[in-house]
Amino acid sequence: MAEVAVSQGGWNPTQYDRFKDERRQPFFDLAALVLPSESGSPGPRVADLGCGSGELTAWLHQELGAAETVGVDSSEAMLAQSEAHVRPGVRFERMDILEATEAYAGQFDVVFSNAALQWITGHESLIPRVARLAKPGGQLAVQMPANGGHVSHRTAAAVAQEEPYRGALGGWLREDPVQAPDWYASLLHREVGAAEQRVYLEVYGHLLPDTRAMVEWVKGSLLTAYLARLPEGLRQPFVERYTERLLEAAGEQAPFFYPFPRVFLWARLPS
Ligand SMILES: C[S@@+](CC[C@H](N)C(=O)[O-])C[C@H]1O[C@@H](n2cnc3c(N)ncnc32)[C@H](O)[C@@H]1O
Repeated sequence: MAEVAVSQGGWNPTQYDRFKDERRQPFFDLAALVLPSESGSPGPRVADLGCGSGELTAWLHQELGAAETVGVDSSEAMLAQSEAHVRPGVRFERMDILEATEAYAGQFDVVFSNAALQWITGHESLIPRVARLAKPGGQLAVQMPANGGHVSHRTAAAVAQEEPYRGALGGWLREDPVQAPDWYASLLHREVGAAEQRVYLEVYGHLLPDTRAMVEWVKGSLLTAYLARLPEGLRQPFVERYTERLLEAAGEQAPFFYPFPRVFLWARLPS
């Protein structure tokens, strides 16, 4: 079984929020998959893995009528924003998701993760490990972008293989660990023993003002992994070269249609 590995990203909440509405919709769609607690029972205990700035974690807490929600994230910059969203029952911890799977095993009714697990490789062992954060009968809800084959991602890998970036990155390329939906369905059945599951791919169509807007989008996510590994002096040239190659490959269009596939996983663990 492949080992899990964490990808370090230089997260910037301001850049990430430039496409706030587009990035929020999958979070709301994922939350809608979570079944409500039985009436009369206290609200669920919820984990939000890779919670980012915490604003949506606080929304999730209220939406699920949770008794307690713990947001976990490893980025200091993202978590600095979460202080504004601390309230009774909602707290945040600066912790790696892998560390959380050890520290909190079996403690949650709902294990939720939106747009974060694609940053950790080795999903064959990661997903069961994350699922084990849930109590027996608890729910797992995960959403991950599955756009590794898009020109926006292929171009980043192509630029990273050009000098001087290749040398500066030591040949590092971002590995996309996200698999096809049926692969996750089999994994949830085989390794998690899911009593019920719902797994699907949804393509979100984003109409951006022009092709260059795709650079701003990707600067808030994928490119952070490359930029965090490059020395300061090569970061801006990397973005410029990326823009040049992306415009060549995708063409200058206004508006630009950016199809964005995302994999959704929901499962109920055996009781
Ligand atoms: C794309 S943002 C998503 C934030 C939030 N879940 C949302 O839906 O807006 C991904 C977040 O995952 C966090 N992250 C990535 N890998 C992580 C890891 N191994 N442990 C903890 N957090 C991680 C990043 O720091 C970042 O805040």
